[in-house]
Amino acid sequence: MATNTSWTRRHIISLADFSAIEYDIVLQTANSFREVLSRKVKKVPALQGQVVANLFFEPSTRTRSSFELAAKRLSADTLNFAASTSSLTKGETILDTAKTYLAMGTNLMVIRHRDAGVPGAIATEMDRLDARVGVLNAGDGQHEHPSQALLDLFTICLLLDPDRPRLDLLADKKIAIVGDILHSRVARSNIWSLTAATGAELHLAGPPTLLPKLFAPMGDGRPGKLFLHWELEPALEGADFVMTLRLQKERMTQHLLPSLREYHNLFGITRDRLQLCQPDVKVLHPGPVNRGVEISSDLMDDPHLSLISQQVTSGVAVRMALLYLMGGGKNA
Ligand code: NCD
Repeated sequence: MATNTSWTRRHIISLADFSAIEYDIVLQTANSFREVLSRKVKKVPALQGQVVANLFFEPSTRTRSSFELAAKRLSADTLNFAASTSSLTKGETILDTAKTYLAMGTNLMVIRHRDAGVPGAIATEMDRLDARVGVLNAGDGQHEHPSQALLDLFTICLLLDPDRPRLDLLADKKIAIVGDILHSRVARSNIWSLTAATGAELHLAGPPTLLPKLFAPMGDGRPGKLFLHWELEPALEGADFVMTLRLQKERMTQHLLPSLREYHNLFGITRDRLQLCQPDVKVLHPGPVNRGVEISSDLMDDPHLSLISQQVTSGVAVRMALLYLMGGGKNA
């Protein structure tokens, strides 16, 4: 097990200020847990006695289940909360909900909310109360989704070197993120992680309505390079990895697209379009997928090209690593 003595971060809200050392600690620790998950008994006592509360104020399948399984495999006690059946419906505030979980002895809070800033606000309140609770952002509005970006990074680095996944493997790689960048917290977190290695190239592609220029300054001062394209082809040319994103219809407040069919024709990822990429290109998607819109259905199901199920599998190991590091776990 990688040593976690150099881990000092209590909360994980954003990857904007993540250091190369932190990425490497997460990748190494996740790889150790990947080994644990390949054993017959897939459980370690690392967080025994600790309470992990999953506070999901917005719908989720994979992220919530993945955090729950990760916490259970670390032997933590888990509390699951769903907004629709909670006291929020009686007018309780989110901060009061968090304080209720704190009073039950929660050590780690995994928080998803439809508004940007909620996990950060709860983390600030926990620190103000000197509660020593770690808060992990599981997706806040259009802001960030750090654990998704870290599992994407782990999936990519694991493919490049299964024995030693590490950040500098991205050094000569071209990665494209295609689609609804504007509404995507996954893209915003991935912009930080995929430009964290010197020599890495990250190319964003989407229609101007879904990829405004305001993303360009995110590349300023990063070790890797960030490019924006309003056409698909230059992003795909020679790419090693292509990440496509769900069109987030629920977050679209204006008519930003003429039609889904036109979107698919211009930016949908298909087998044919991948001809522009490296011969061994792989495709990622954070899920959930609109089949036939951002990615063709047959491509999504092709195990030689699609890393989608590896992303889900990697997600458990990465979330075990994050909970372990934040919880100061021992004896893993
Ligand atoms: C993403 C999310 O909720 O931000 N899904 C996920 O966590 N795997 C992306 C999305 O909703 O499209």
